[in-house]
Amino acid sequence: MAESADHRDTPGAPGTGAATGGARRRTSDESDDAASRAFRELLRGLRVWDTELPTFDPAQAPAAPLPLFRQWLREAAEAGVPEPHTMTLATADAAGDPSVRTLMLHDADERGWHFATHRGSRKGRELAARPRAALGFYWAAVGRQIRIRGSVTAASAEESAADLHRRSPGALAAALVGRQSEVLGSTDELARASDAAWERARREPDAPVPSWTLYVLRAEEVEFFQGDARRRHVRLNYRLTGGGWEQELLWP
Ligand SMILES: Cc1cc2nc3c(=O)[nH]c(=O)nc-3n(C[C@H](O)[C@H](O)[C@H](O)COP(=O)(O)O)c2cc1C
Repeated sequence: MAESADHRDTPGAPGTGAATGGARRRTSDESDDAASRAFRELLRGLRVWDTELPTFDPAQAPAAPLPLFRQWLREAAEAGVPEPHTMTLATADAAGDPSVRTLMLHDADERGWHFATHRGSRKGRELAARPRAALGFYWAAVGRQIRIRGSVTAASAEESAADLHRRSPGALAAALVGRQSEVLGSTDELARASDAAWERARREPDAPVPSWTLYVLRAEEVEFFQGDARRRHVRLNYRLTGGGWEQELLWP
């Protein structure tokens, strides 16, 4: 929403006398209030679980979470959820301060959930210091959320390179740009680096990107949440114990 010109007015600016300054501040405060009200109304008008959603019977769930995860991702894709393979990755720094960001899921198999990034990025540095992470998926069209937590290991350089070179030229070009999470001097600098990276990716489809690393999160806990229009959401949590996967229902 466009901000009013009054909003940019500052007390003491040229031509702003004490009397008019007060009046302008009032106008500015009023427009801030109106914008805040409109924003709150927008939020209150938005809905969740306001559509026909699938049912989920936890009694029929498989003994391990992986087959159910794959089934739910397939069903999200079939329901038209855009980019259902994108997820939130949470890590924490050495002081315990958390960060989240969106990443692409590259695979989910018996080893765990695979994703890739630069080792020197913030998340790469955090994973090096504390190799624990959580993943979150939310697919609104089917009212489903999945939460996964566990330990993370970096795959070998060979496996990381193979994973990268299986992907699109755009993915290689993006990886070749490098310096992820460093402070960028200007957008021109990025444009030059990106043009060079695209050109190199075209010329050299196997170009190495040593910092690009495949990570595998080995799940210790996986929770499936099925939203329900009457708010009787179903939460099924899998926990890995010495004896294998145990299941428990959670209050919503
Ligand atoms: C849809 C989407 C997919 C993304 N996929 C990846 C990815 O697979 N790997 C990656 O390093 N960054 C990916 N990013 C960018 C990250 O969200 C993030 O900005 C970047 O990795 C830097 O994160 P960090 O500073 O916390 O390390 C993606 C962003 C979006 C919006």
